[in-house]
Amino acid sequence: MRKKLVVANWKMHGNLASNRQLLQAYIAALSSLKQVDVVVCVPYPYLAQAQSLLQNTNIAWGAQNLSKDDVGAFTGEVSAAMLRDFGATHVIIGHSERATAYCESDENIATKFMQAKKHGLTPILCVGETLIEREAGVMQMVVGQQLDTIINTYGASVFADAVVSYEPIWAIGTGLAATSDQAQSMHEFIRSKIATLDNQAANSMKILYGGSVNPQNAVQLSAMKDVDGGLIGKCSLSAQEFAKICQAASECSA
Ligand code: PGA
Repeated sequence: MRKKLVVANWKMHGNLASNRQLLQAYIAALSSLKQVDVVVCVPYPYLAQAQSLLQNTNIAWGAQNLSKDDVGAFTGEVSAAMLRDFGATHVIIGHSERATAYCESDENIATKFMQAKKHGLTPILCVGETLIEREAGVMQMVVGQQLDTIINTYGASVFADAVVSYEPIWAIGTGLAATSDQAQSMHEFIRSKIATLDNQAANSMKILYGGSVNPQNAVQLSAMKDVDGGLIGKCSLSAQEFAKICQAASECSA
């Protein structure tokens, strides 16, 4: 069985003082959980703080984006090597809030996915459909196309040990999570799509669910066969709620 993974996505929240409190509360609440991997993706300026507070704990840290280039005259960008410099292990790629606001194309997202892998970071690739696409019944086609951009360029084997996060756009920050059946059905679609090309990659990749996960729905979502954990936005800003979500995932791993 794949070990569950719960990722906190702080988005653009926090400051030095509040982060310290939150991370210390995470450490206190999560230190005894052994059956789940936990990662917190912080805004860039706080990577050093995350590193200093989380090293030698069972919580890893990462970022919410990275540059597709190695180095150079790219004002405002942050490279994979810089993230590694601060001990980051994971990086979120293609979150819909970025893809929409900064017009990120699927090609750009594919390049960033490979850039993360090349530098030893685990990419957390976000995929998902809009409400209109779900209502039109084309959600699998949409998510399939998002994966195809990577598969067609780099092959399905690059999904080995990577993380895909299914994030229906209509569920992010709305309080309206996908049902566990909706999540399982999409997760199964994603895994079997990769499995037809590379079975080993399909079995080793983790597929998270993201979008209004809370301590209540985390119990049912975590119990689904192809739900390997969650990407948590709002509820990761409360150590108590985040810990309950991690606990629910941990109980399903046991
Ligand atoms: P949310 O965010 O938990 O606040 O809905 C999830 C996400 O953006 O990954």
